[in-house]
Amino acid sequence: KPQAELSQALLTWYDAHAREMPWRVGPADRAAGIRPDPYQVWLSEVMLQQTTVAAVTDYFQRFTRRWPSVAELAGAEDGDVMAEWAGLGYYARARNLLKCARVVADELDGVFPDRYDDLLKLPGIGPYTAAAIASIAFDRPETVMDGNVERVMARLHDLHDPLPGCKPELKAYATALTPTERPGDYAQAVMDLGATICTPRSPACGICPVIEACAARRAGTAADLPRKSPK
Ligand code: ADE
Repeated sequence: KPQAELSQALLTWYDAHAREMPWRVGPADRAAGIRPDPYQVWLSEVMLQQTTVAAVTDYFQRFTRRWPSVAELAGAEDGDVMAEWAGLGYYARARNLLKCARVVADELDGVFPDRYDDLLKLPGIGPYTAAAIASIAFDRPETVMDGNVERVMARLHDLHDPLPGCKPELKAYATALTPTERPGDYAQAVMDLGATICTPRSPACGICPVIEACAARRAGTAADLPRKSPK
Protein backbone atom coordinates (compact mmCIF):
# COMPACT_ATOMS: atom_id res chain seq x y z
CA LYS A 1 0.00 0.00 0.00
CA PRO A 2 1.18 3.55 -0.68
CA GLN A 3 1.95 4.43 2.97
CA ALA A 4 4.28 1.46 3.22
CA GLU A 5 6.00 2.38 -0.03
CA LEU A 6 6.54 5.92 1.17
CA SER A 7 8.12 4.93 4.49
CA GLN A 8 10.21 2.31 2.67
CA ALA A 9 11.48 4.94 0.22
CA LEU A 10 12.48 7.12 3.19
CA LEU A 11 14.32 4.23 4.85
CA THR A 12 16.19 3.39 1.66
CA TRP A 13 17.18 7.03 1.31
CA TYR A 14 18.24 7.11 4.97
CA ASP A 15 20.47 4.06 4.53
CA ALA A 16 22.34 5.86 1.76
CA HIS A 17 22.27 9.46 3.02
CA ALA A 18 21.82 9.56 6.80
CA ARG A 19 23.89 12.28 8.42
CA GLU A 20 26.52 10.78 10.69
CA MET A 21 26.04 11.74 14.32
CA PRO A 22 27.99 10.38 17.28
CA TRP A 23 24.87 8.93 18.93
CA ARG A 24 23.68 7.17 15.78
CA VAL A 25 24.41 3.59 14.72
CA GLY A 26 25.53 3.37 11.08
CA PRO A 27 24.22 0.85 8.53
CA ALA A 28 27.06 -1.69 8.98
CA ASP A 29 26.73 -1.77 12.78
CA ARG A 30 22.96 -1.88 12.46
CA ALA A 31 23.21 -4.91 10.17
CA ALA A 32 25.36 -6.53 12.89
CA GLY A 33 22.52 -6.06 15.37
CA ILE A 34 24.04 -3.13 17.27
CA ARG A 35 21.42 -0.87 18.86
CA PRO A 36 21.74 2.77 19.91
CA ASP A 37 22.46 3.31 23.62
CA PRO A 38 19.27 4.66 25.30
CA TYR A 39 21.40 6.94 27.51
CA GLN A 40 23.02 8.46 24.42
CA VAL A 41 19.68 8.79 22.62
CA TRP A 42 18.16 10.54 25.63
CA LEU A 43 21.14 12.86 26.12
CA SER A 44 21.31 13.81 22.44
CA GLU A 45 17.57 14.43 22.14
CA VAL A 46 17.52 16.66 25.22
CA MET A 47 20.49 18.61 23.86
CA LEU A 48 18.90 18.89 20.39
CA GLN A 49 15.83 20.72 21.69
CA GLN A 50 16.30 24.28 20.48
CA THR A 51 19.91 23.58 19.45
CA THR A 52 21.34 22.49 16.09
CA VAL A 53 23.06 19.17 15.41
CA ALA A 54 26.31 21.02 14.59
CA ALA A 55 26.30 22.82 17.94
CA VAL A 56 25.33 19.74 19.95
CA THR A 57 27.99 17.33 18.61
CA ASP A 58 30.94 18.67 20.66
CA TYR A 59 28.88 18.97 23.84
CA PHE A 60 27.59 15.44 23.40
CA GLN A 61 31.12 14.07 23.04
CA ARG A 62 32.40 15.93 26.09
CA PHE A 63 29.44 14.72 28.20
CA THR A 64 29.74 11.07 27.18
CA ARG A 65 33.52 11.06 27.65
CA ARG A 66 33.16 12.47 31.14
CA TRP A 67 29.98 10.58 32.09
CA PRO A 68 29.74 7.42 29.93
CA SER A 69 26.59 6.09 31.60
CA VAL A 70 23.46 7.44 33.23
CA ALA A 71 24.72 6.17 36.61
CA GLU A 72 27.90 8.22 36.24
CA LEU A 73 25.96 11.31 35.23
CA ALA A 74 23.64 10.79 38.21
CA GLY A 75 26.67 10.86 40.51
CA ALA A 76 28.04 14.11 39.07
CA GLU A 77 28.17 17.36 41.02
CA ASP A 78 25.43 19.76 39.89
CA GLY A 79 28.00 22.48 39.27
CA ASP A 80 30.12 20.26 37.02
CA VAL A 81 27.12 19.41 34.85
CA MET A 82 26.02 23.05 34.64
CA ALA A 83 29.59 24.03 33.67
CA GLU A 84 29.70 21.43 30.86
CA TRP A 85 26.27 22.63 29.71
CA ALA A 86 27.38 26.29 29.56
CA GLY A 87 26.74 27.65 26.07
CA LEU A 88 23.88 25.30 25.19
CA GLY A 89 21.33 27.62 26.79
CA TYR A 90 17.93 26.85 28.29
CA TYR A 91 19.47 25.85 31.60
CA ALA A 92 16.25 24.31 32.90
CA ARG A 93 17.08 21.50 30.47
CA ALA A 94 20.35 20.80 32.29
CA ARG A 95 18.69 20.80 35.70
CA ASN A 96 16.00 18.39 34.45
CA LEU A 97 18.71 16.29 32.83
CA LEU A 98 20.33 15.70 36.20
CA LYS A 99 16.99 15.08 37.91
CA CYS A 100 16.10 12.52 35.26
CA ALA A 101 19.50 10.82 35.46
CA ARG A 102 19.08 10.46 39.24
CA VAL A 103 15.59 8.96 38.94
CA VAL A 104 16.78 6.45 36.34
CA ALA A 105 19.91 5.59 38.31
CA ASP A 106 18.36 5.48 41.80
CA GLU A 107 14.85 4.19 41.16
CA LEU A 108 15.13 2.24 37.89
CA ASP A 109 18.49 0.47 38.35
CA GLY A 110 20.03 2.67 35.67
CA VAL A 111 17.73 1.28 32.98
CA PHE A 112 15.69 3.66 30.83
CA PRO A 113 12.03 2.65 30.41
CA ASP A 114 11.30 1.39 26.90
CA ARG A 115 7.67 2.54 26.70
CA TYR A 116 6.36 5.96 25.77
CA ASP A 117 4.02 6.25 28.79
CA ASP A 118 6.77 5.38 31.27
CA LEU A 119 9.30 7.70 29.62
CA LEU A 120 6.78 10.55 29.81
CA LYS A 121 6.77 10.33 33.63
CA LEU A 122 10.47 11.24 33.86
CA PRO A 123 11.67 14.80 34.59
CA GLY A 124 12.25 16.86 31.44
CA ILE A 125 10.82 14.20 29.11
CA GLY A 126 7.81 15.47 27.14
CA PRO A 127 5.92 13.96 24.20
CA TYR A 128 8.71 14.70 21.72
CA THR A 129 11.53 13.20 23.77
CA ALA A 130 9.46 10.19 24.92
CA ALA A 131 8.56 9.32 21.32
CA ALA A 132 12.14 9.86 20.16
CA ILE A 133 13.62 7.56 22.83
CA ALA A 134 10.94 4.87 22.43
CA SER A 135 11.37 4.75 18.67
CA ILE A 136 15.10 5.40 18.20
CA ALA A 137 16.45 3.44 21.17
CA PHE A 138 13.77 0.73 21.44
CA ASP A 139 12.23 0.50 17.95
CA ARG A 140 8.73 1.09 19.22
CA PRO A 141 6.35 2.50 16.57
CA GLU A 142 5.87 5.89 18.24
CA THR A 143 5.55 9.00 16.10
CA VAL A 144 8.06 11.78 16.65
CA MET A 145 6.77 15.28 15.91
CA ASP A 146 9.02 18.30 15.54
CA GLY A 147 9.16 21.27 13.17
CA ASN A 148 10.86 19.24 10.44
CA VAL A 149 8.27 16.46 10.58
CA GLU A 150 5.42 18.99 10.55
CA ARG A 151 6.80 20.68 7.45
CA VAL A 152 7.31 17.40 5.59
CA MET A 153 3.76 16.24 6.43
CA ALA A 154 2.16 19.57 5.46
CA ARG A 155 3.89 19.38 2.09
CA LEU A 156 3.25 15.69 1.35
CA HIS A 157 -0.46 16.37 1.90
CA ASP A 158 -0.53 19.95 0.59
CA LEU A 159 -2.23 21.00 3.80
CA HIS A 160 -2.91 24.74 3.77
CA ASP A 161 -4.48 25.05 7.24
CA PRO A 162 -2.15 27.15 9.40
CA LEU A 163 -0.03 26.11 12.36
CA PRO A 164 -0.56 25.67 15.22
CA GLY A 165 -4.22 24.70 14.62
CA CYS A 166 -3.37 21.98 12.12
CA LYS A 167 -0.97 20.15 14.46
CA PRO A 168 -3.42 17.33 15.26
CA GLU A 169 -3.95 16.73 11.55
CA LEU A 170 -0.20 16.70 10.88
CA LYS A 171 0.25 14.27 13.75
CA ALA A 172 -2.42 12.00 12.25
CA TYR A 173 -0.65 12.03 8.88
CA ALA A 174 2.68 11.25 10.54
CA THR A 175 1.16 8.45 12.61
CA ALA A 176 -0.37 6.85 9.51
CA LEU A 177 3.08 6.86 7.86
CA THR A 178 5.05 5.44 10.80
CA PRO A 179 6.11 1.89 9.93
CA THR A 180 6.24 -0.93 12.47
CA GLU A 181 9.65 -1.94 11.11
CA ARG A 182 12.56 0.36 11.93
CA PRO A 183 10.37 3.17 13.30
CA GLY A 184 13.42 4.81 14.89
CA ASP A 185 15.31 5.01 11.61
CA TYR A 186 12.13 6.18 9.93
CA ALA A 187 11.74 9.01 12.49
CA GLN A 188 15.32 10.12 11.91
CA ALA A 189 14.88 9.82 8.14
CA VAL A 190 11.98 12.31 8.21
CA MET A 191 13.96 14.67 10.45
CA ASP A 192 16.99 14.45 8.15
CA LEU A 193 14.81 14.99 5.08
CA GLY A 194 13.36 18.13 6.66
CA ALA A 195 16.78 19.40 7.70
CA THR A 196 18.59 18.79 4.41
CA ILE A 197 16.09 18.59 1.48
CA CYS A 198 12.59 19.60 2.55
CA THR A 199 13.93 22.83 4.01
CA PRO A 200 11.77 25.82 4.99
CA ARG A 201 12.90 27.94 2.05
CA SER A 202 14.00 26.68 -1.39
CA PRO A 203 13.39 22.96 -0.79
CA ALA A 204 15.57 20.72 -2.98
CA CYS A 205 12.63 18.86 -4.55
CA GLY A 206 14.83 17.70 -7.44
CA ILE A 207 16.67 15.27 -5.17
CA CYS A 208 13.79 14.33 -2.86
CA PRO A 209 13.27 10.58 -2.45
CA VAL A 210 9.48 11.01 -2.03
CA ILE A 211 8.78 13.64 -4.68
CA GLU A 212 6.31 11.28 -6.42
CA ALA A 213 4.15 11.27 -3.31
CA CYS A 214 4.29 15.02 -2.65
CA ALA A 215 1.00 16.85 -3.22
CA ALA A 216 2.52 20.28 -2.59
CA ARG A 217 5.16 19.67 -5.23
CA ARG A 218 2.43 18.87 -7.76
CA ALA A 219 0.47 21.97 -6.72
CA GLY A 220 3.56 24.19 -6.74
CA THR A 221 3.01 25.21 -3.11
CA ALA A 222 5.86 23.39 -1.32
CA ALA A 223 7.90 26.48 -0.46
CA ASP A 224 4.81 28.19 1.06
CA LEU A 225 3.99 25.39 3.50
CA PRO A 226 3.33 25.03 6.32
CA ARG A 227 1.37 28.24 6.79
CA LYS A 228 1.27 29.97 10.14
CA SER A 229 -1.58 31.79 11.85
CA PRO A 230 -0.84 35.49 12.21
CA LYS A 231 0.14 36.30 15.80
N1 ADE B 1 16.77 16.51 15.60
C1 ADE B 1 16.50 16.06 16.84
N2 ADE B 1 16.79 14.75 16.97
C2 ADE B 1 17.26 14.35 15.78
C3 ADE B 1 17.72 13.12 15.27
N3 ADE B 1 17.76 12.03 16.05
N4 ADE B 1 18.10 13.08 14.00
C4 ADE B 1 18.04 14.19 13.24
N5 ADE B 1 17.64 15.37 13.64
C5 ADE B 1 17.24 15.46 14.91
